[in-house]
Amino acid sequence: MNRPVLEGLRLNVPPYVKHDRLVAWVAEIAALTEAAEVYWCDGSDAEYHRLTEQLVAAGTLKKLNPKLRPGSFLARSDPSDVARVEDRTFICSQRQEDAGPTNNWMAPAEMRALLQTGDQALFKGAMRGRTLYVVPFSMGPLGSHIAHIGVELTDSPYVAVSMRVMTRMGRAVYPVLGADGAFVPCVHTVGAPLEPGQKDVAWPCNKTKYIVHYPETREIWSYGSGYGGNALLGKKCFALRIASTMGRDQGWLAEHMLVLGVTNPEGRKYHVAAAFPSACGKTNFSMLVPPEGFPGWKVTTIGDDIAWIKPGKDGRLHAINPEAGYFGVAPGTNYHTNPNCMDSLKANVIFTNVALTDDGDVWWEGMTDTLPAHLIDWQGRDWTPAIARETGENGKLRPAAHPNSRFTVAATNNPVLDPEWDSTTGVPIDAFIFGGRRSTTVPLVTEARNWTEGVYMAATMGSETTAAAAGQQGVVRRDPFAMLPFCGYNMAEHFQHWLDMGARLQGQGTTLPRIYCVNWFRKGADGKFVWPGYGENMRVLEWMLNRIEGKAQGADNVFGVSPRYEDLRWDGLDFTREQYATVIGIDKAAWQQELVLHAELFRQLAYKLPAELPATMKRIEAKLAA
Ligand code: GTP
Ligand code: SPV
Ligand code: MN
Repeated sequence: MNRPVLEGLRLNVPPYVKHDRLVAWVAEIAALTEAAEVYWCDGSDAEYHRLTEQLVAAGTLKKLNPKLRPGSFLARSDPSDVARVEDRTFICSQRQEDAGPTNNWMAPAEMRALLQTGDQALFKGAMRGRTLYVVPFSMGPLGSHIAHIGVELTDSPYVAVSMRVMTRMGRAVYPVLGADGAFVPCVHTVGAPLEPGQKDVAWPCNKTKYIVHYPETREIWSYGSGYGGNALLGKKCFALRIASTMGRDQGWLAEHMLVLGVTNPEGRKYHVAAAFPSACGKTNFSMLVPPEGFPGWKVTTIGDDIAWIKPGKDGRLHAINPEAGYFGVAPGTNYHTNPNCMDSLKANVIFTNVALTDDGDVWWEGMTDTLPAHLIDWQGRDWTPAIARETGENGKLRPAAHPNSRFTVAATNNPVLDPEWDSTTGVPIDAFIFGGRRSTTVPLVTEARNWTEGVYMAATMGSETTAAAAGQQGVVRRDPFAMLPFCGYNMAEHFQHWLDMGARLQGQGTTLPRIYCVNWFRKGADGKFVWPGYGENMRVLEWMLNRIEGKAQGADNVFGVSPRYEDLRWDGLDFTREQYATVIGIDKAAWQQELVLHAELFRQLAYKLPAELPATMKRIEAKLAA
């Protein structure tokens, strides 16, 4: 086998790597980026320990108190590198219309000149003075017919260790890859080359950022950020943006969805996939603890962020979680809102941008009722309630943890991990849920009367923006399918793909999953959430399952069927008819306004927009006018 040797650089290819094209590509990227060294990750425990020790020595990670948080670390990022950067994310298809009006687009040749080939190309020399880590990973169970392999080349050891937690990473990938198996090449640099003698910083990154996807050649190039979805390229870049285009071409779905199992007291088990936008409750819902009044019910987690969904041999839609870990939002997580999540975080966690307590543990807003007397905040500064009051904005305390601070933890830490979470065939889906964060207008829950009505609900979903992405927060925007930042192709074609999948399955005689639209986030006149949420969302979930079993009633509204007060079970919760009316009601004027926004979205997506969607809107308009 031809083993390229670059001048002054040994590629160090391990003997178990038999894939010439992969080796040649690693050589090519090492040459382009002028990496000082190449290291092939094997995914072992020993390697994880070595790399985390190295990160501690470099100041990127801080070891937490082993008595309070064994095997755990805290990373503090650069304050300019704290979330996904949607305005720097590009879909570089040959034709702009294939990226569609909701994606940033640049012609592939132009982008390649900028990143790889031009005189000032950003990746040229970008890894100078750094080690290039070769990170092989499988999205989905190794060897499953639903899984796909990627290889990330990164100069960030923080990314390498995070990928070990988040994916099936390491040596076991190579036998599946063989001598010429397909993989998605993912190139990542923090964009901070080190000159000889230059001291490194704890969180290297670059002001300039590019998160780039070539859907036709299925490549990912990421420059300038070390944070989350910008840098862990198996996640949003591969498992959503590239995979959604693969799914469109091959007849399956890659969605921003949690997947859960729910077993009723009679022992019947259902599977539900739910799409909520970033930081809108997927992790919470996927680990839900049924409240008092629901004895015998059990919820188990298959995935908390991404689902790959394919028709199975039985004709039904089956979902797998392509990931193997959770990169979840810390603030707001506590023993009341998500006890299973808190239990998942007891050991072997990498926290990023949370606060540090004086005894070497972590803290974030909402973790405890009482504020700690002293903390080191996410930027390494002293924090006390008094300092927080003085330096806070808009009359609020200055947060000790960044609002998008997160934990990185293996799925196997989850005490309610579903026994089927690793199944190579996935779990059959009984219901899809779509839900945004809306303080007004959208009712607690509505069932679509048919597939098209459900696709309409998903397509027109709106949500208030959160800290998960850089930019203004709390503004309502359309977030179709919770996929606005993640669809790797034209969003209008995504709508068509869903309609086509439904029609095809229905044509084969399959009973399609029901589709629901939910909103946990309506607020009262006092500005507080009216619906108690979290575990209490079980009441809504029970109604959905009872609908599927033909046991629950509801009443028609303008866009579907919602439960009346008496259609939900209220055991163990004091929630009045009047309170319920404020979360389920449809305000005509607000809905007329809402439909203006739907129409605006349809105008933006007019090219290739399925005719069924404006037709559905017309029917809702007519009902509102009646
Ligand atoms: P990504 O990982 O960004 O895709 O987000 P996610 O959808 O997994 O979000 P997550 O479950 O971490 O929720 C983030 C925020 O939503 C936290 O601040 C939670 O407290 C809040 N949240 C979750 N469920 C509920 C709910 O039922 N009601 C209310 N009011 N807030 C909720
Ligand atoms: C999201 O923003 O939806 C996330 C976090 O799940 S990230 O991995 O940064 O995309
Ligand atoms: Mn997400």
